Amino acid sequence: MIQLAINIDHIATIREARGGIEPDPVAGAAIAELAGAVGIVCHLREDRRHINDRDLKILRETVKTKLDLEMAATPEVIQIAIETLPELVTFVPEKREELTTEGGLNVASKLHFYTDIVSQMHQHDIAVSFFIEPLTEQINAAATAGAEIIEFHTGTYANARTSIEQQTELAKLRESAMYAKSLNLKVTGGHGLNYVNIRPICSIPEFEEVSIGHAVMARAIFSGLDRAVRDMVDLLHVYS
Ligand code: PXP
Repeated sequence: MIQLAINIDHIATIREARGGIEPDPVAGAAIAELAGAVGIVCHLREDRRHINDRDLKILRETVKTKLDLEMAATPEVIQIAIETLPELVTFVPEKREELTTEGGLNVASKLHFYTDIVSQMHQHDIAVSFFIEPLTEQINAAATAGAEIIEFHTGTYANARTSIEQQTELAKLRESAMYAKSLNLKVTGGHGLNYVNIRPICSIPEFEEVSIGHAVMARAIFSGLDRAVRDMVDLLHVYS
């Protein structure tokens, strides 16, 4: 069965819209865990546009499942990861001008750089995931660099405009998941997944976990966060 990790960045985005103290992503993380999430994901961006250093510090103290720190491989955030000791870091590309993470990381183009960083993380007992496109070259690079997990960027699949395009993207994810699993990588996915497009993803047995933020938070506005997380957990139970 595919498990659910909840990305809480959007809660912090709403807080930052007024620059106040609510809603608190830390409270959201606790509710998501109680509702069945197996992990809490947050992205500490260079510009701190949503999650900030205070959030990360308290999340480290309060998250009981698994804290997944999404981050760019910059010296500042690497140092913060080492001080915070999340169970897992997920390396993502980061651009100041983007609304959200766009596309996967090019691990293959900087293999030595990422290999060094993975070993640095492992020295501190932090597991490593790379957020990559479903491409053999990137899967090979992630495995060679020493990561134990890969998160496939599902955004192209999620944004497909026709069912043919969606099937094509799903096939890429399926084949890549099989290949990654054959290299002993744990396969996860995220970006753009929602209550409708999650079903075909559940037909890929190699997928062990999905990371979802926007769709769950969007539903939470109407039905509450506890219910929104439980609804997604229920779908994952039924479909996978
Ligand atoms: N995984 C990664 C690496 C991401 O950057 C994001 C977006 O923050 C997600 C998953 C969640 O995407 P969404 O908010 O579209 O569910």
